[in-house]
Amino acid sequence: MKKILITGAAGFIGSHVARLFVNKYPDYHIYNLDKLTYAGNLENLKDIEHKPNYTFIKGDIVDGNFMLELFKQHRFDAVIHLAAESHVDRSIDKPMEFIMTNIVGTVNLLNAAKAVWDGQYKGKRFYHVSTDEVYGSLGEEGYFYEDTAYDPHSPYSASKASSDHLVRAYHDTYGLPVIISNCSNNYGPNQFPEKLIPLFINNICNNKPLPVYGKGENVRDWLYVVDHAQAIDVIFHGGENGETFNIGGHNEWKNIDLIRVLIRVVDRKLGRAPGTSDKLITFVTDRAGHDLRYAIDSTKLQQKLGWKPSLQFEKGIELTVDWYLNNQEWLESVTSGNYQKYYEEMYGNR
Ligand code: NAD
Ligand code: DAU
Repeated sequence: MKKILITGAAGFIGSHVARLFVNKYPDYHIYNLDKLTYAGNLENLKDIEHKPNYTFIKGDIVDGNFMLELFKQHRFDAVIHLAAESHVDRSIDKPMEFIMTNIVGTVNLLNAAKAVWDGQYKGKRFYHVSTDEVYGSLGEEGYFYEDTAYDPHSPYSASKASSDHLVRAYHDTYGLPVIISNCSNNYGPNQFPEKLIPLFINNICNNKPLPVYGKGENVRDWLYVVDHAQAIDVIFHGGENGETFNIGGHNEWKNIDLIRVLIRVVDRKLGRAPGTSDKLITFVTDRAGHDLRYAIDSTKLQQKLGWKPSLQFEKGIELTVDWYLNNQEWLESVTSGNYQKYYEEMYGNR
């Protein structure tokens, strides 16, 4: 049985990746290593927690000795590394946690894999999940390609860029069998409501202001999270060591246009008259270093490995809004406690 360590699988994307692998590959044993920060929630994995090929381990990737002992104990065949601090606004507020988890944590995993695999790399794989934000910001035209030069602007994207460089360095220097993917903005069920789409769905439901940064003209390229998980599956099995793949939906939206779609869909589902929640739109001070536009070219992944997004955006948004409306308990559990303090600090005086 292949033993696969998935880090950060109690989080948003990781939970979808773990579900896909546990259900699709009964001959793999999936180990979910997660620190359970504010963003990690075992409720996200309720449906697979009793499966015989799934094990949860609580732990911190920043603890190098712990990671090495864990590798020695289980002798994993592969790693799919998603654990990270992932929210740009938090990285502006407290960069150090991003440096520790995203950079030091990644190096700890690389060191543990290198030590335990000890040059015996046949059948081994270290898959590092990264972001399109490492490429920086685009003007009104053009796309990010796999060979676009890195130009990160936030502490978050700089920490991810740094981890990408280190992963490549371990390939080039020690021959570690690594693979990297850089994906655009994900949306869908189980995303923590600090990120634009779930935050705004929640606020529209509760008649709270929608804090639009700047003029709402920044552009993001949105991909349904299950499509990202499927891309990771395809790359994990079909990519070659040392390769990079860009993942994206060719689905660009100006924030303000996306917000109007969310308002229309949520109002309709709540039986409100069209446009009821337009008044909630509140333009606030822009995010510092706010990247104007992200857009991924995923031709390589589509042509080489045959992946393509399965969902149209309109359908994905319907599914997403339905999920949040039908999972109020989940929302309430993650928005209690520290969330209130975070929200007050982030938006209280804007
Ligand atoms: P998330 O914040 O929802 O989840 C992160 C998970 O990592 C949580 O379960 C958390 O508990 C865990 N974690 C954090 N620090 C840890 C530590 N020190 N040790 C062990 N576990 C720790 O993040 P997400 O949005 O699911 O993103 C997952 C990965 O995908 C990240 O690497 C992120 O950079 C990347 N990514 C995200 C997006 C996106 O749109 N969300 C897009 C492209 C790439
Ligand atoms: O591109 C991939 C990245 O997408 C991932 O690597 C990150 O982990 C993920 O958080 C996401 O980063 P963004 O900064 O693009 O996502 P966020 O949801 O925070 O913001 C999306 C856009 O909406 C961005 O232009 C900022 C804007 N925004 C966001 C929030 C939370 C607002 O206008 N108001 C808000 O309150």
